Amino acid sequence: MIPTTPIRQAAQALAQAHHIVCLTGAGVSAESGVAPFRAAQTGLWSKFYPQRLASQEGFADDPGLVWRWYMERLRTVEAAAPNPGHRALAQLETLKPAFTLVTQNVDNLHERAGSRQVYHIHGRINHFRCNYCRAEYPLQAHEQTQEQPPICPHCSELVRPDVVWFGESLPVDVVDIAWRAAESCEIMLVVGTSGVVYPVAQLPSVAKRAGALVIDVNPQCTPVSEMADIFLQGAGGVVLPQLLEALSPTLP
Ligand code: OAD
Repeated sequence: MIPTTPIRQAAQALAQAHHIVCLTGAGVSAESGVAPFRAAQTGLWSKFYPQRLASQEGFADDPGLVWRWYMERLRTVEAAAPNPGHRALAQLETLKPAFTLVTQNVDNLHERAGSRQVYHIHGRINHFRCNYCRAEYPLQAHEQTQEQPPICPHCSELVRPDVVWFGESLPVDVVDIAWRAAESCEIMLVVGTSGVVYPVAQLPSVAKRAGALVIDVNPQCTPVSEMADIFLQGAGGVVLPQLLEALSPTLP
């Protein structure tokens, strides 16, 4: 059953589009039990001080604290399972000739749901590198429970998760792909982001200025839903499967 008109509108637009960009944020993983950053009581940044845990300064002050916090988050991600929202996006990728999935999430739940190409614009929590020479570091299972970060075998500096911290640059290759895709897509589908962390928060506007239709999926109203052409208010794990269901009969 097709429940609402905005979903039908969005499905029709998706059916006609050739190139879709999907931008996801922490909300898409919320129903998998991975806490988002900015929820009033449950958000990570309401309980932890971001500059202390996600910055060069914090890592220099107390590398063990930062390491243990990320290892705890890694365990949460590894214990989590993809939800119907992740799976619907993986299915959408198979239905469209050009689908670019850009995520701000450092988890791998999109990949585990079956998405074939995922651009991690804020890095990946299950990849590691030297904080100094940037050499990749294959983490051994026992190192996850260590109190302190491992030491780089090349330069003896500290190993860290390959995520983007406050004040650091985003990976230029991913930024390039994301911006080009936003400028050339017909639909920007945004799921589960508060839309307040720049520069990624610009992507929906970049797409809109270039003529794309912006669809936002979020239980809460955000700056993205305010500028979106279609706002599908609700949880990704509910709305995205409904969107797929509405899309299927309209496909050629
Ligand atoms: P936020 O925690 O800022 O926002 C999560 C959004 O998801 C909110 O707008 C929620 O309303 C929405 N949400 C909650 N449950 C949802 C659900 N079931 N389905 C859909 N949406 C839901 O997370 P991000 O916008 O991803 O950066 O945060 C952006 C960046 O801020 C993160 O990548 C991280 C953080 O600092 C870095 O670590 C560099």
